[in-house]
Amino acid sequence: MKSVNNEYDSLVMKAPIFNQVVYDGIVSVSGDIWKNQRKFILVTLRHFGLGRSKLEDKIQTEVKLFLSEIDNFNQTPFKMMTPIQTGAGNVISHLVFGGHFNHDDPSFKILMDGFDSLINYVSAGSLVTFIPILRFFPGDLFGIKKIARKMQVIKDFISELIEEHMSKFEEGNVNDFIDAFISEMNKQDVGENTIFTKEYLASIIMDLFIAGTETTSTTVTWASFYLATRPDIQSRIFEEVKANVGTERLPSMQDKQNLVYTEAFIMEVLRLCTIAFISASHAPVSDIWIRGFHIPKGMQIVPDIHSVLSDPAVWGDPENFRPERFVSKEGNLLKPDEFIPFFTGRRNCLGESLARMELFLFISALVQRFEIMPPEGETLDIKDVDGIFGVTHAPKPFYIRAISRQAKEMTYNV
Ligand code: HEM
Repeated sequence: MKSVNNEYDSLVMKAPIFNQVVYDGIVSVSGDIWKNQRKFILVTLRHFGLGRSKLEDKIQTEVKLFLSEIDNFNQTPFKMMTPIQTGAGNVISHLVFGGHFNHDDPSFKILMDGFDSLINYVSAGSLVTFIPILRFFPGDLFGIKKIARKMQVIKDFISELIEEHMSKFEEGNVNDFIDAFISEMNKQDVGENTIFTKEYLASIIMDLFIAGTETTSTTVTWASFYLATRPDIQSRIFEEVKANVGTERLPSMQDKQNLVYTEAFIMEVLRLCTIAFISASHAPVSDIWIRGFHIPKGMQIVPDIHSVLSDPAVWGDPENFRPERFVSKEGNLLKPDEFIPFFTGRRNCLGESLARMELFLFISALVQRFEIMPPEGETLDIKDVDGIFGVTHAPKPFYIRAISRQAKEMTYNV
């Protein structure tokens, strides 16, 4: 019997939905092209701060703008998705093109609208991913053409960014991911298997925005739901932040080791809400056997992350929202092997360290600064918000209020 390990996670099949829109970013390619893309992206993003404190300053800039944007709602009901989408999108912008957008920038709104459409329409599209023949149905019954049009808008926007960078590019003055890619494009011979083409660059950037914006925004939106509906948990987080950070400055990554309950809360959101419900479809590179089942080479496999994160044998009461499950009796953070919201293996989430940094900095600052509540006179219930399965498992739109805490005088120099 062959071991499942290496064979299983080394190849991802292209999903038909992506083929429809000529989309060759890291998420949907396989083999050498995938290996080369992943290596280049990781090395380059690390160079520009991924997983290191260098990036923390940029994220803190976005946290301040995010808090200020929420302040502007002046305690009236708002949807969390709007300010956090801009915040998370801007963190990727810093990495990719070394700049960021204002929260009311019309160009950025076009991008966000494209992402929203993906969330809304991909649920229908994923059926086509698993039953490819459905895409030949006449008309646009499964919304595929609509997604393709929206993807094209995003792609055009990104192409403009690339052209702008190319026109200003100076070797030796490499400031962001696009510059680094152009520099490599200039050095490499354009062989058949090269990833250094403008088309691949556009697809990779699109993937970084899509994979890095929706996931993080959806997690923070779910977190705001649990903050609003569980005041007991919210108070405990606030007390922890107040005791360890105070209210005079933003929480930093150095504080993370002391904010165990806050981190446990974030882990519980990632577990119960299972943002990426199922992983991208994988396929074994050779025939394998798992528990007596034969899986032929190339067969599409859809890993069910939710089944692991909600297994009663592992979690006991998986249906309950209970951050304490991640805290030991001694008060330390527990990290069970089955906690895999970013999946596992060689094809796991490339942005995990970035995502975990963002979630910690945005959520701890949000609770430090505001009390999150349902709109006045209303209650929020999981039955009303659960249920959109698209690129991510997102809640149905809901409103919350953010009431400044007593330390309203905190300005953070926004
Ligand atoms: C809460 C936030 C996030 C969650 C829950 C999440 C989850 C996942 C999951 C489950 C996968 C699929 C792994 C597989 O198919 O084996 C994935 C892939 C990926 N993620 Fe994330 N992700 C998050 C944030 C991010 C961020 C911020 C980035 C930005 C760089 C990112 C970039 C990627 C990329 C590029 C891939 C494809 C990796 C590959 O195919 O080699 N993700 N993510």
